This record gives sequence, structure tokens and C-alpha cells, in this order.
Amino acid sequence: MTYIKKHVPEIIALIGAVFIIAFFIWAFSQHATIGLFRVNGFFKMVFIAFGIFGLVLLILGLSYLCIKTRKNTAGVRWFSVLIIILALPAIIIPPVAFSYLSGIFSPAFIDTPPQLLLSGNTGDYGVPDMAVYFTTAEAVSGYTLTWGDNNGTTTLTEDNKTKQHLFILSNLKPDIRYFYRVNDEAGTYFSTPSIEGQLRFAIASDAHYGSANSRNDLTSYMLAEIADPDNGFDMFFFIGDLVEYGFNDNEWDEALRSFNTAASTIPIRYAAGNHDTLFSGLNNYLNYCAPQGLDSNAESRLWYRIDVGNVHFLVLDVEWSAETYTGAQAEWLEQQLKSIPQEDWTIVLSHGFYYASGIYSHGWKWYDNQETINSITPLFDEYKVDLVCSGHVHNAELLEENGVKYAVCGAFGGLPDPERTYTSPASIWYASGQYAFLDIVLDGEQCTLTFRNSDFEALYTATINNNQ
Ligand SMILES: [Fe+2]
Ligand SMILES: [Fe+2]
Repeated sequence: MTYIKKHVPEIIALIGAVFIIAFFIWAFSQHATIGLFRVNGFFKMVFIAFGIFGLVLLILGLSYLCIKTRKNTAGVRWFSVLIIILALPAIIIPPVAFSYLSGIFSPAFIDTPPQLLLSGNTGDYGVPDMAVYFTTAEAVSGYTLTWGDNNGTTTLTEDNKTKQHLFILSNLKPDIRYFYRVNDEAGTYFSTPSIEGQLRFAIASDAHYGSANSRNDLTSYMLAEIADPDNGFDMFFFIGDLVEYGFNDNEWDEALRSFNTAASTIPIRYAAGNHDTLFSGLNNYLNYCAPQGLDSNAESRLWYRIDVGNVHFLVLDVEWSAETYTGAQAEWLEQQLKSIPQEDWTIVLSHGFYYASGIYSHGWKWYDNQETINSITPLFDEYKVDLVCSGHVHNAELLEENGVKYAVCGAFGGLPDPERTYTSPASIWYASGQYAFLDIVLDGEQCTLTFRNSDFEALYTATINNNQ
């Protein structure tokens, strides 16, 4: 005890430095932190400043130890006070930041409403399987799901206690109106896509629930338009940045409740955005948007393929830049592209963009991303991908490079980016300051792509050719 009393300043300094180091080890072991550090100049400065602070603390602690052993003057005592004052933030901030960012004190799951998720599995009739999926804060058993059409119903019952309630609807027939019912609640109706006729789907990105800058009232309008049966959407892809801070349960709660307007009746699937997977956000993204068992035989829950007749969606995990585009993902992408007949439609979706106009912000070029262009687009060129859709930059833009069309969806409620200061040579059409999403209609050899604003007005319409 006397020993500790005699060495309080250096012990506190050492604990502070260790806390900072431990926090860094944890933070950089999280899925999206390297991207955050590389792309966001503000956070890069915060990380560097805090790292230097930890180092200074360590040096001060060791210096104090050396000085104290030689003499014990008033100056040395003042030095000890200074070290203690400096060490306090290092002792307080890392544990507080860790508890906030890691979600360690939050429940693993919150109650979420049922979503109708698209599965990567294709049934006997060529329609993707779907799943009714919801989560509960407590593990419970005995939920039932009844689903079917005019010709008959099936009831699925959960036997084991679980917080993740996943009911797979398999071997769906095309162009049929089905219903599902959880326990004795009212039935919800949905329609399956056509395999040979017209296919209409919405693609949106960047809702950023939880950000004070977001216009999620406009997100609600756009969701209602996608859900409106008169508009005839068969499917909905939301490709990232659903929430501002993926580690924050309240934001997921708000987003999933709001999205339920569309997600309960229009089959939906997600791609991970850099904001969704921040720090411990990856678990939330996987738990709420990509549950285990949705795609059997899937190599990863972060990238997947969905087939609807001769239309093939390849969804990639590209978040900040190319950090999450692993060798395994590249290999998988090439295998998929190789297996798709050239006359079919191939549509690639990812949060992160490739060609885009934009601005320079926080030390990063938010336009033509040379990393993703160099590491991923050669495969799009080689296998003649028809359309690549992304978000991440909050603009609406259509571009073309090497015969491949690139569409940047527009902000689905997140704050639109400022007017571009760099115009991509690949740009065909561009709009800033717009809340928008993509409305795509595929009908045989015809593909019509329309950027729609929050009033469902067409901002721009283009015809996309099949790259034979
Ligand atoms: Fe975003
Ligand atoms: Fe993003």
C-alpha cells in the first residue's frame, strides 16, 4: 500500500497509457475502423492526437520516475501533480468511449418489426426464396408463421428459444399474391416478381437515421412510394448507410420501424454501408439486415447474389473505399460473373462508389475513386456488367466508362453533398442537393432507369443497354 502511495503519479500515467493502447487495439480490430481512419481526415487527426497523448503520458511517467529517484524537490512534486492531471482524461475517456462504441452495455437485440427479406437461394420456380424476419429483445419460442396463397397455406413453428425469428418462404411461384401472418396477427400481403415479364425494383442508399442533418420525413415519403401497390415495385435494395452510427441501437430501432412501411410488403435486401458497420455496428448490421440462415451455402453475409430469372444481382461489400474488398470477395465476384450468360442482365450493387463526380473533403477525394476503380472495375469491364449502382456520395449521377453504366442513387434522407467541384469525365447526368432513389424497370431487352425525387417525380430517365 505504501509502495502504491509513493508511486501514484507514474502508476496513473502508466494506466492512462495502457488504456489508450488497449482502446486503439480494440478500435482497430473493428471491421470499419481502418477505412474510417484512412478516409475521414477529422477522425484520423483525433486518433493521431490521442495516440501522441498516450505516448507523451508514457514518457512523462517514466521521466518522473527517473527524476524522483534522484531528488525530491517542490518542482518534482509539481511535476507529479501535472502528470496526474494529464493522466485523468486518459483514464476516463477510453473506457467511456469503449462502452459507448462497443455497445457492451446495450442489449444484443432490440425488438424489430417483421421484414420480408430476399434470400440468395432460388426456389423451384425461379423466384428467390424470401424470409419473414424479426428480432426480439428476449429469447422466446413458439412464434408461428402462416403463409400461402389461395391454393393453400403452410404454418411454420419455432421450437427453440431465440431472439432471431427467421421463417423461410421457399419455392415461391412467380407473379402470385401471397400473404403471411405472425401468430394470430393480421395477414400481410405481398406479390412475387415475374420471371419472364416486367421486373421493377427500387435501389436507394444513405438514409442516415440518427443524424441531425437527415430528412427522414422525406425518407418516409419515398418508402411510401416504393410500398404503394400502384407503383408496382417487385423488390427493394437498400445499399448502405441506413443509420448514422451503426453502434447505436436507437438509430436501428428508428430506421427499422420506419422502413417497415416498405419492408413488410416489398421484398428487401441490404448492402453494408460504412456508417452501418462503424465500431460494433457490424454486429447490428448482420443481426438486423443479414441474419444467419438467410442464404444457405453463402460464403459471407456481407456479399451475395440474387437471381430472378435472367436478372442477376451481385451485391458487394465495399464500404469506405476498397478496404473491405478482400481477395475472397474478388474471387467470388469473378466466379459469379463467369457463370452468368452474357445475354442475361448483370447488376452490381455496393455502397462504395467507383466513378463519380464530387468534392474534396476531410483529406479525401469523394469522386472517381482510384482504389475501387483499379481493384474492382476491371472485372466489370471484362465480364461486361450492365449496370453498377452505388451510394456513399450523396448525389444522383449516371456515368459510363468502358461501356459499363454506373449509377449513384442519390441521398435517401441523408444530407445531400455540396455541389461538385470535380466532374468525372465519365459523367452523363448529375444532380446535387436532391433526395432521390433509383426506379428501374426491366422488360426483356429493355431497361429503363429513372432517378426519382421524394415527390416521386422523375429527375432523369435513361435507357440501359444489355452489354452482350
Ligand atoms: Fe452516406
Ligand atoms: Fe457512406
